[in-house]
Amino acid sequence: MFSFLKTTSQTSTRPLGKVMALMNQKGGVGKTTMAFNLAHAFAHEGKKVLCLDMDPQANFTSLFDVETSDYHIYHLLINSVKELKALHTSALPSDVIIKTKQEEGVHIDLLPAGQELSGFELTVAGINGPRQLILKKFIEKYELRSQYDVIVIDGPPTLGLLVVNILCATDGVLYPFVPDRFSEQGLKNIQQVVEDIAEMEITSVPKNLGYIPNLFDIRRKQASSDLAHIKETLGEATVYEAFTNKVQFGKSLALRKSVFQFKSAEYKDLQRQFVDMSQNVTKELQS
Ligand SMILES: Nc1ncnc2c1ncn2[C@@H]1O[C@H](COP(=O)(O)OP(=O)(O)OP(=O)(O)O)[C@@H](O)[C@H]1O
Ligand SMILES: [Mg+2]
Repeated sequence: MFSFLKTTSQTSTRPLGKVMALMNQKGGVGKTTMAFNLAHAFAHEGKKVLCLDMDPQANFTSLFDVETSDYHIYHLLINSVKELKALHTSALPSDVIIKTKQEEGVHIDLLPAGQELSGFELTVAGINGPRQLILKKFIEKYELRSQYDVIVIDGPPTLGLLVVNILCATDGVLYPFVPDRFSEQGLKNIQQVVEDIAEMEITSVPKNLGYIPNLFDIRRKQASSDLAHIKETLGEATVYEAFTNKVQFGKSLALRKSVFQFKSAEYKDLQRQFVDMSQNVTKELQS
């Protein structure tokens, strides 16, 4: 039986869990790779983790070696909107959330995504209620924060209503980016959406948990100065140690494994980077 069906009294000693997301409008910057490995870092610290896939590409979902049902996050979100009663299905969180296979003592559940999620914006276009808060209200309705220590959301490479829903539902956001001359605009665009949400005054604004330079090309002459320049434009927020192009990511992800599931020395540096990141994120989310 799924643990979120327990009564709240059974879980009342657990402090409410935090919701965080990996976001960047730009594709291929490492959102899913970082979300997957960071989720494992949290779980290896003993945290109970829910991985929530909010990208219709469902890459996060496919990194877990699990069988999904016909229903996924899209169906749960639509079911949570009363005005869309005509589209409701029999999907319940207990049917859709999957316990993933992990080592003893490591707990990661998955709330999968699927292709239908790309129709979310259109489906909710006509409703009168606040379309931006559907995910936030869904998390509240099913008390997911009381069931998990941390919910890690993988965001899509877009800037539409899905992204606004994620930003409104999260306590904090990490921004992976590839430090090249195109990255600045992408990061500015998503910050603009955060500012728009602040102006709407409909919910609290997610904290900036920091930037993750990824696929940093140390062989390129200009790489260090480009990164230094970008850092200057990022203000006070944390900028994590850069990830270079690592074959270990390709190897591990092809096996649907995190870097923590390998014992060999070539994974040690990556493990350390994710442990450092998870510890910093935990601190930031608590402050
Ligand atoms: N540091 C790295 N070294 C080597 N390969 C990497 C690294 N970071 C990411 N990759 C690879 O790059 C590809 C894109 O990464 P990923 O899917 O995480 O990006 P994304 O931002 O989630 O993309 P999308 O926007 O399409 O969802 C993947 O094949 C991933 O394995
Ligand atoms: Mg992705």
